[in-house]
Amino acid sequence: MRSIVVLHNFIFLLLLLSHLNSVSSWKKEEFRNCNQTPFCKRARSRKPQHCKLIATDVTMDDGDLTAKLINPDDNSGSNPLILSLTVYQNGILRMKIDEDPSHNPPKKRFQVPDVILPEFESTKLWLQRYSIDGDSVFVYLFDGYEAVVRSDPFEVFVREQGSGKRVLSFNSHGLFDFEQLLVKKEGDDWEERFRSHTDSRPYGPQSISFDVSFYGADFVYGIPEHATSLSLKPTNGPGIEESEPYRLFNLDVFEYLHESPFGLYGSIPFMLSHGKSHGTSGFFWLNAAEMQIDVLGSGWDAESSIVLHPDQKRIDTLWMSEAGIVDAFFFIGPKPKDVVKQYASVTGTSALPQLFSTGYHQCRWNYRDEEDVKNVDSKFDEHDIPYDVLWLDIEHTDGKRYFTWDKVSFPNPEEMQKDLASRGRRMVTIVDPHIKRDDNYRIHKEATKNGYYVKDASGKDYDGWCWSGSSSYPDMLNPEIRSWWADKFAYTEYIGSTPSLYIWNDMNEPSVFNGPEVTMPRDALHYGNIEHRELHNAYGYYYHMATSEGLLKREGGKDRPFVLSRAFFPGTQRYGTVWTGDNTAEWEQLRVSVPMILTLGLTGITFAGADVGGFFGNPDTELLVRWYQVAAYLPFFRGHAHHDTKRREPWLFGEHNTELMRDAIRVRYTFLPYFYTLFREANVTGVPVARPLWMEFPYDEATFNNDEAFMVGNGLLVQGVYTQHAKDVTVYLPRDYTWYELKTGTAYKGGKTQKMEVTDADIPVFQRSGTIIPRKDRFRRSTVQMENDPYTLVIAVDASGAAEGELYIDDGKSYEFKQGAYIHRHFMFSNGKLTSANLAPLTSFGTKFLSDCTIERIILLGYSSKPKSAHIEPSNHVADIEFGPLQIRSGVRSSVLTIRKPNVRVSDDWTINLL
Ligand code: GLC
Repeated sequence: MRSIVVLHNFIFLLLLLSHLNSVSSWKKEEFRNCNQTPFCKRARSRKPQHCKLIATDVTMDDGDLTAKLINPDDNSGSNPLILSLTVYQNGILRMKIDEDPSHNPPKKRFQVPDVILPEFESTKLWLQRYSIDGDSVFVYLFDGYEAVVRSDPFEVFVREQGSGKRVLSFNSHGLFDFEQLLVKKEGDDWEERFRSHTDSRPYGPQSISFDVSFYGADFVYGIPEHATSLSLKPTNGPGIEESEPYRLFNLDVFEYLHESPFGLYGSIPFMLSHGKSHGTSGFFWLNAAEMQIDVLGSGWDAESSIVLHPDQKRIDTLWMSEAGIVDAFFFIGPKPKDVVKQYASVTGTSALPQLFSTGYHQCRWNYRDEEDVKNVDSKFDEHDIPYDVLWLDIEHTDGKRYFTWDKVSFPNPEEMQKDLASRGRRMVTIVDPHIKRDDNYRIHKEATKNGYYVKDASGKDYDGWCWSGSSSYPDMLNPEIRSWWADKFAYTEYIGSTPSLYIWNDMNEPSVFNGPEVTMPRDALHYGNIEHRELHNAYGYYYHMATSEGLLKREGGKDRPFVLSRAFFPGTQRYGTVWTGDNTAEWEQLRVSVPMILTLGLTGITFAGADVGGFFGNPDTELLVRWYQVAAYLPFFRGHAHHDTKRREPWLFGEHNTELMRDAIRVRYTFLPYFYTLFREANVTGVPVARPLWMEFPYDEATFNNDEAFMVGNGLLVQGVYTQHAKDVTVYLPRDYTWYELKTGTAYKGGKTQKMEVTDADIPVFQRSGTIIPRKDRFRRSTVQMENDPYTLVIAVDASGAAEGELYIDDGKSYEFKQGAYIHRHFMFSNGKLTSANLAPLTSFGTKFLSDCTIERIILLGYSSKPKSAHIEPSNHVADIEFGPLQIRSGVRSSVLTIRKPNVRVSDDWTINLL
């Protein structure tokens, strides 16, 4: 027995060392490629017109259309499949294909619960204008669009009525294939082996694959998480050698590469297309099994006899999944924001974050002890750098037993948090899903006793290795277990936690150091006899959900949770924040962080960021400074580093660099009113905070493939600098607008690529003409200290002298905004007149949010008249006009037309007349 324990410990040490070793790079051989993944290999080898199914027995049932898919020439006795089509409001078609329950398949295939919003289901339209022509059935979808089911050969598509122009289609190339579950017979060998692991595959092969075509598409985007460009490059077709499909399989990938279709920590099987002719459309497959997606390069089907609408440009794709059912959504757009809204109506918009979490976060693996925490915290103040949250990684626990504290290093966790809270700051601690198998550990005892762990294929508690050594994993698919987990965050359970403590969920892919591909075996078993293979990509989602519910419960539903997660799935946006995992301190990784975060935003998860500075390795100072400058404009802003790296808090690189990093962080704080307004927009509509340029300028082709620049809302264009010693950088400024450079107020005409000189002081950022952006320009230590500060409005007028913008304010922490306790203003400037109008519904409840904050400055960019004074109504007072500082960062003193101290309250209606 003892020798087994020693052997175990030795193996663990080896595993840990291999995981910790920061000099080795991505271990390709640890992960399967498509050729080593039988379902992927099979699907890729199929030729167009492989599918022989036809749609028959079309009926209407409960307002849905159902049909049977059968192969008339097949005598092997295979069962029909059942197809159903449902139409929802706003141009959404849902299609399901599953086995026919009347033929008694060996078990029910997994259909992912808890992702689709119940309120979405209620937007179902009773199918209208159902008509038949030849072998096609037509269904009304949306104003000007219809869905068509063609029987033979079987195909489903969406098209414009009248013109007949297609938008999206399914199985137009006949690549659909659905492997039905089998009952094992004598002699069947379904096992799959990879390295030292064997997958028993008790139901045989059960994969599904099909082709989807996007018409009018110049590019496709989405399907995170990959460290690659924003527009997805073709992965298969003529001239593309040795390429892998985009893999969607949540994995803990050590030192991922910056240009790879390899699947990382999270998966969202949602693709968007955009092009000049149709605009934007989207396709979402709700399925939690391993998925592989090929973007097919033009000419891939050269040998096929199918001629598919040659007058319409299109991009074909091949979708392959190991298990589950077809539960697919077609979104017709046709504008970029329509598609993200359509997707959000199905899976939810992002939760409104607490204001503090939109500030800067300081993390490291690890802040060693309470002394270290105190010291780091005080240095931020000493150096006048604002920050809001200090983070503790795994070493703060007692031997990686989550919900505990290392008694020597963190003897007084409550005092430590209260001390931070006294200066308005929060703390975040890490809570991972691997539970140490230690009989004296309370969580393990309870989970074992209650049977709460995921089981291995033999039915025993699954035992895998992670930070805590031998560990088991709570089965988060089970609502009872999620509720038990949520209760662990009560103050009486998580001893040492206080109301200013929030949570970080890591390793929730789940990461298993000794498991196949560093994760759980596919034949492990979950609640309801669901195999891990069917659920894998959603495990982290359920875990994140349970933690978020825990934070909600501990404060009686009053405090908005903050939970950062590494793994994600559609719907994650409702539960918290995501970061892009273990990146590396390299310039190319800074560059790829931008398309990675933009892609997350396009697919619902707007509150996302990357480790500033890069997790592995030591960034040179210039890279670190640039990283702060870019990340300051991205939604989640956190510095983090591996324990092997040198300390890199912003004051450790000499006064000049401290100043540069301080400036970058201060600029972020200046724009927090704007960010928060955008987070609210995302919360209401699903439109992300950080946007690819084409989302704002869908008609400007020069933007479609640009992922070096991005928009914050509709007003700011940020151009990153991604190379060392850059003296200049080229920036494309979208056409039809004038762009005002933030630092100097200099105007540039859009529709051109500008070469901009850069210094180490900052990156080029522009405000678009026609926008009004709210800021808070006083420098403070954290968001809490800024609460009562007055606002600055920056008005950049368009060619007609007009501009508009919004400001959203609430208490920054509770859910009272849901009862109307917020201020939402619309600012409109035209003909020399600025008005502030209410956008919030007028409510009768007493909880309406109040604020005495005023506007202390209004800056006008591009305003050609020369007003002398500003008359304010209804108060009748007159404010001065002068040339004042643009003041976006210290030391810059450009003067611009400024209305000084209008001192109007943000919560009131008013008009300012320039005379
Ligand atoms: C994982 C996380 C990283 C964290 C480390 C230790 O590698 O991605 O952010 O610091 O685990 O918890």
